[in-house]
Amino acid sequence: MTKVVSLAKRRGFVFPGSDIYGGLANTYDYGPLGVELMRNIKNLWWKHFVNERDEIYGLDSGIIMSPKVWESSGHTSSFTDVLVDCRKCKNRIRADHLIEDYFEKKRKEVKVEGFDVEKIKNIIDEEKILCPHCKAFDWTEPRKFNLLFETHVGIVPEKKSLAYLRGEIAQGMFVNFKNVLDSQAPDLPFGLAQSGAAFRNEITLGNFIFRTLQFNLSEFEYFFNPKKQKWERLFDYWKKEMWTWTTELLGINKKNLRWRLHTDKERSHYSEKTEDLEYNFPFGSFKELYGLAYRTDFDLKNHMEKSGVDMRYTDKETNEKLIPHVVEPTFGMDRSFLACLLDSYYEEKGKKEGRIVLKLKPYLAPYKAAVFPLLANKPEIVKKAKQVYDILKTEFSIDWDDRGNIGKRYYSQDEIGTPYCITIDYDSLKQNDVTVRDRDTTKQVRVNIKELVEFLKKKLEG
Ligand code: GAP
Repeated sequence: MTKVVSLAKRRGFVFPGSDIYGGLANTYDYGPLGVELMRNIKNLWWKHFVNERDEIYGLDSGIIMSPKVWESSGHTSSFTDVLVDCRKCKNRIRADHLIEDYFEKKRKEVKVEGFDVEKIKNIIDEEKILCPHCKAFDWTEPRKFNLLFETHVGIVPEKKSLAYLRGEIAQGMFVNFKNVLDSQAPDLPFGLAQSGAAFRNEITLGNFIFRTLQFNLSEFEYFFNPKKQKWERLFDYWKKEMWTWTTELLGINKKNLRWRLHTDKERSHYSEKTEDLEYNFPFGSFKELYGLAYRTDFDLKNHMEKSGVDMRYTDKETNEKLIPHVVEPTFGMDRSFLACLLDSYYEEKGKKEGRIVLKLKPYLAPYKAAVFPLLANKPEIVKKAKQVYDILKTEFSIDWDDRGNIGKRYYSQDEIGTPYCITIDYDSLKQNDVTVRDRDTTKQVRVNIKELVEFLKKKLEG
């Protein structure tokens, strides 16, 4: 983890938020390479789950919505964590994390998320769990805190009204359900998908971009008629699809993944069944990467009741009016990004000792290729290399490097996951070709410049 965090900063993937002011806890910024990788992951998700499917529609709702949305969805009352404060060092900590980390050190996997305040207090007292920072045993009473970020709409102080930054992006899909029915006239089952920022007032520190105040979420609500389709079958279907996305499209090693069923206590207030797809993150053990929930008709029913707007779907065959049920696959994009970095990080042993390679899927890599003139002080080689660079940059995201020797340039590109390095040498001037070096095998082939774009396109598909 330390090596990946250091690489991420050194090479411009992820920077600590507000760095020059000493940082702001649990905030990060994506640098020039990070923004490319993140965009590639998000675009791939959108292409795979929205563009390539007939029955999933996209949406882009606002970050700020009426506070009534969050009251109706149950988030103002139930979207809470139990926190305790250490009276000695003033450290504030999520009580479920305190307890789970305590048992994890004893090699016991215990889940207490969702336990009531009383039960949490009893566990902390019975086990005499010490503050992980100052080792004191002097906790305040556990208290519930809401995770929603508060903000105010309006500029005149006495007329400002309370609003929230969205704590999940799902609600945008529920409140627009009727608009989509009216404008698109879709048949059930169909999905509504969104990808965008969500905000939670998280207090647990550390673990890099795993848990942040602002994060990127991509999820969809899959609406269906419970009389015509069994939710269990849809749940299993999406479970398989999530697995395929993670292993085949993101390329995450299956050995580092597992599914875990939520306990009744742990499950969110809206869900009848939840399973997490967990990744073996190097801090602690397996932790949530994605979630899959059967939200029943909880959200639509509540919005219909509280808004007074009829949100029912009319079955086109029977004319029956019904509130559809929902299965929701949800994908944290920052955790996808982190899992991709961790899973693709290799340090080579043996002859190539010291070579660090990010073996990202080629289509996810920030740069698809880097172009090098063999010698930076030979104008005819540099000119030819620039021509190649100009051709490629209209098709792909491309880097240029003319510093140091070729070996160093290769290593520098390997470390950021560039799948192909293209060198223009003396032979290129005579033969109008280049060498293309493969990141993973380090093998080189000569390719004619006229065929280079097609050659790369083919390679990048896989
Ligand atoms: N609409 C359902 C929902 O929001 P969730 O399990 O609360 O479900 C969805 O969150 C996903 O968002 C998680 O699986 C995780 O990948 C990601 N996530 C949640 N909180 C996060 C945070 N504070 N920082 C980064 N990612 C987070």
